[in-house]
Amino acid sequence: MCGIVGAVAERNITPILIEGLKRLEYRGYDSAGVAVFTNAGKLERLRRPGKVSELDQALAGEPLVGRLGIAHTRWATHGAPCERNAHPHFSGDVAVVHNGIIENHEALREQLKSLGYVFTSDTDTEVIAHLLNHKLKDHNDLTAALKATVKELHGAYGLAVICASQPDRVVAARSGSPLVIGLGLGENFLASDQLALRQVTDRFMYLEEGDIADIRRDSVAIWDVNGNSVEREAVQYRDGAEAADKGAFRHFMLKEIHEQPAVVQRTLEGRLGDKQVLVNAFGPQAAELFAKVRNVQIVACGTSYHAGMVARYWLEELAGIPCQVEVASEFRYRKVVVQPDSLFVTISQSGETADTLAALRNAKELGFLASLAICNVSISSLVRESDLTLLTQAGREIGVASTKAFTTQLVGLLLLTLSLGQVRGTLAPGVEATLVEELRRLPTRLGEALAMDSTVEKVAELFADKNHTLFLGRGAQYPVAMEGSLKLKEISYIHAEAYPAGELKHGPLALVDDDMPVVTVAPNNELLEKLKSNLQEVRARGGQLIVFADEKAGMVNGEGTHVINMPHIHDTLSPILYTIPLQLLSYYVAVLKGTDVDQPRNLAKSVTVE
Ligand code: F6R
Repeated sequence: MCGIVGAVAERNITPILIEGLKRLEYRGYDSAGVAVFTNAGKLERLRRPGKVSELDQALAGEPLVGRLGIAHTRWATHGAPCERNAHPHFSGDVAVVHNGIIENHEALREQLKSLGYVFTSDTDTEVIAHLLNHKLKDHNDLTAALKATVKELHGAYGLAVICASQPDRVVAARSGSPLVIGLGLGENFLASDQLALRQVTDRFMYLEEGDIADIRRDSVAIWDVNGNSVEREAVQYRDGAEAADKGAFRHFMLKEIHEQPAVVQRTLEGRLGDKQVLVNAFGPQAAELFAKVRNVQIVACGTSYHAGMVARYWLEELAGIPCQVEVASEFRYRKVVVQPDSLFVTISQSGETADTLAALRNAKELGFLASLAICNVSISSLVRESDLTLLTQAGREIGVASTKAFTTQLVGLLLLTLSLGQVRGTLAPGVEATLVEELRRLPTRLGEALAMDSTVEKVAELFADKNHTLFLGRGAQYPVAMEGSLKLKEISYIHAEAYPAGELKHGPLALVDDDMPVVTVAPNNELLEKLKSNLQEVRARGGQLIVFADEKAGMVNGEGTHVINMPHIHDTLSPILYTIPLQLLSYYVAVLKGTDVDQPRNLAKSVTVE
């Protein structure tokens, strides 16, 4: 969580730091700050609660000009989002920015207080600044002091430090929170994500777990977790598709919703044969490994977890493989019994989600057959640390609420299901050829669903003055309902809950009245008649129904029942299609409520703390 930028150059680095922070706002945006060793030879800082634009405006009035600096955009963990808790934190000559959580901060705080250090914030980060300042008494060199400091830290950190008495360098440490060095000509940079530095360089060096780095204008030195001097490979990053531009759309989220036909097409490219999925899309050793798989364990968070829940229906029904799905924050702390020959699958847009990464690291000790990451970021920790990878091709997702990442994950998971079934010979005859054909048509179907945009916009008016909603689905549409309810609560702040429709009568029906809209997705499948009965139960209690139904489902508008017809689709692919109107619904409700659609309150795009 949070974003870090650092720079050491011959030119004024403040505009570079601020531009970097703007590009990192997806990681947190409740306060921001910058510390610069100014051309006047002083360590100065400016911090502001709120978004980076607030800091930028403040800098217009109080400019900081210098050739060495660090900056931070925060997502609060310890201490409210206010100026005194914003990073950088100072102690003596030292300024520190930090991503992650220091678990032993309370003990360190007491220790440092007894040594006379005065704390001015409620953060865990401030202990690092004082500890480092203290270590400088025994170690003249800043890098040596940082090495001594991190030995006393428990928890996760990505750290960037500057020091007024050694103003030739930024020093950095990585443990559990990613950091990348950007290599320039006669200038070097540091950030928690290379996106922050694409404006100044396309050459990067990724720090590994436990690395300490000393970054100067014309040199970079790195030590590994054992203190050995190491070289990290410099990688040239080419990414044409990264334009952070809303185009004609009002918000990134709406743009990303509308990109889905194109990114689903891209995710399928090169992965479909004539009548089969190309198993080597998962890597050259995939076919051999998949032949041994007897169980699948999926672990993910949030929206990615919902994708995993859909996959369970597919894996069991189509490929006949037992599948378990769990949220990573639970899995990582549970004593898990691993079934023999289990494939461990993680799903993640960012590939940096702390809980998912930790679950993968635990899984390596638990005797899984192999690990597979379905991920959208090729250079992420999750991809680097997994045996097999399937990259979704969603492109950069900027809206905090995940949309196109989800549908491309579903496509990746269906490819996985068919690949496992193909290799193990467990698919029913003809199923793979049919679904390959349906997948080819999917982008067109998604385009048809997106054409319902203005219809859904009108339906959104039914929600603008509501405080609670229910989402219902049956079978593989239950996780779709969960995803719909997550989207609505994230960006419109309306309380939304999802239930399997058959569960309604076991409790939640008590909530239903005409003030609580009930949203349902109803493809034309064998559960349709059961679902219709559940909907009657809602209507009988005066509940308002909003039903996205297959055009052949025979559902009609009536009093208190709003039916929106969906294009017909093969039932297996219906979770992907039915996600679209629910995304649009949340978007238009949020617009009507006037919330910050792309950066909803209290959230961050990449959750790198647990
Ligand atoms: C919701 C959302 C989050 C993420 C979750 C996992 O719209 O975006 O629930 O899905 O934080 O993130 P990744 O997929 O990056 O691991």
